[in-house]
Amino acid sequence: MGARASWSGQLAFVLAASASAIGLGNLWRFPYLAARYGGGVFIAVYLSLSLTLGFVLLVTEIAIGRYARQSQLTAFGVLGHPKWNFLGVLATLVPLFILPYYNVIGGWVFRYFAAYAGAAFAGIAPTADPKAFFGAFVGAPWAPFAAMCAFTAAVVAVIVLGVKNGIERANLVLVPALLAIAVALSVYVATLPGAGEGIRYYLVPDFSSCDNIGKVMLGAMGQMFYSLSLAMGIMITYGSYMLRRDSVPKAAVRIVAADTFVAILSGFMIIPVVVVFASAGASEGVRAVIDAGPGLMFETLPKVFLSLGTAGPWFGLVFFTIVLFAALTSGISMMEAIVAAVCDFFKTSRARSVAVVSVWSVAVGALSAFGYGRWSSLRFFGLPPLDFFDTSMNILTPIVAALICVFAGWILSPKRILAECQRSGERVGFRLFYVVMVRFVAPLLIIAIVVSEVCRCLKLGGWSI
Ligand code: PFF
Repeated sequence: MGARASWSGQLAFVLAASASAIGLGNLWRFPYLAARYGGGVFIAVYLSLSLTLGFVLLVTEIAIGRYARQSQLTAFGVLGHPKWNFLGVLATLVPLFILPYYNVIGGWVFRYFAAYAGAAFAGIAPTADPKAFFGAFVGAPWAPFAAMCAFTAAVVAVIVLGVKNGIERANLVLVPALLAIAVALSVYVATLPGAGEGIRYYLVPDFSSCDNIGKVMLGAMGQMFYSLSLAMGIMITYGSYMLRRDSVPKAAVRIVAADTFVAILSGFMIIPVVVVFASAGASEGVRAVIDAGPGLMFETLPKVFLSLGTAGPWFGLVFFTIVLFAALTSGISMMEAIVAAVCDFFKTSRARSVAVVSVWSVAVGALSAFGYGRWSSLRFFGLPPLDFFDTSMNILTPIVAALICVFAGWILSPKRILAECQRSGERVGFRLFYVVMVRFVAPLLIIAIVVSEVCRCLKLGGWSI
């Protein structure tokens, strides 16, 4: 085993962490939550939470990783608290179980990208009935599995090349491309007739649709965790590759800014087209179209694209290109967190670790890939496998986040985290704020999410990435 891999500098780290953070959560979940919870109200709550709680949690995870120079599995023990190794195990279970089904959804995105690419060049829509298209695809005997394997292969191809040669280089191309295309698409959408009304719908606070501010806060908090890839081990692992001379707080601010920018931008891409579609006489209202939840990306948006006429397939192609890039970079970060954990724990080579993790991912992913088709009778607690894994992870993630706060705030001591932040030689001006947040505010707020998520599951079940 040689020296630990590292990023080539601050920019590479910020790019990698932002690439992990920017994913399906930004492109699809944020716009639909904003539309559901009163537009500007949700945006304001989300911004305040991510700049405070999100920033604090991000600093904590990155600092733990850099301090320990280990991935999440072994970091807590290495810092002198072997009893807390259980937290490393929990934090590793999250990516271990999310990766397989994230790759299945990545496969769906890949299938849609391919369908729109073919359709755009042929000058026709990929299907006249998007709902039937989606149903036929996920229910097909082999197609979802094959698509998952294709997506997984792309992720593995990057991971196997290593931190600098693989992940860093892939991000250098994918992230700027994603940003450029997303900005261009939002500008195009703003020029569509009727877009102004959509932009108003998105930005102007609508207090009538958020009667319960607690619900808005919980929704925003859950979204923030997912969106910033927190409590998934990723930021600890990525932090462990960070150079000592680079600044943790500066990096955290930039990551929060990049992630939030893309989330807000996605609303500009999606909401106006949905509003134009809904006001052009669609049977559903805006709220119903947006509220399609998981179906929004794969059924409703293709229906909206259909209504754009000849521009539709091109719009779809550009949109699914962004989604594919975002899903790939997030998938890469998740696989890296597991590969690093296996390398650190078993002291084995990267190649061997990648092989083992790939086999795991394909084998467990098969349950979700076949779960709506040939194995549709398979149920875990009454849910299809993908829904079950997603629901369990929605509960485990905030538990891990709360425990990380307890560890940093009460066991390791906030002083050690703040000292790590000062290694780059800068003065840290948020000491008191950090201590209060990590010791009291963050754990209490996070426990509220766990309780609400458990209540929701007991009543409803269902998946909600
Ligand atoms: N943060 C990503 C998003 O907003 O879509 C999602 C994600 C990335 C989830 C990495 C899990 C993960 F390990």
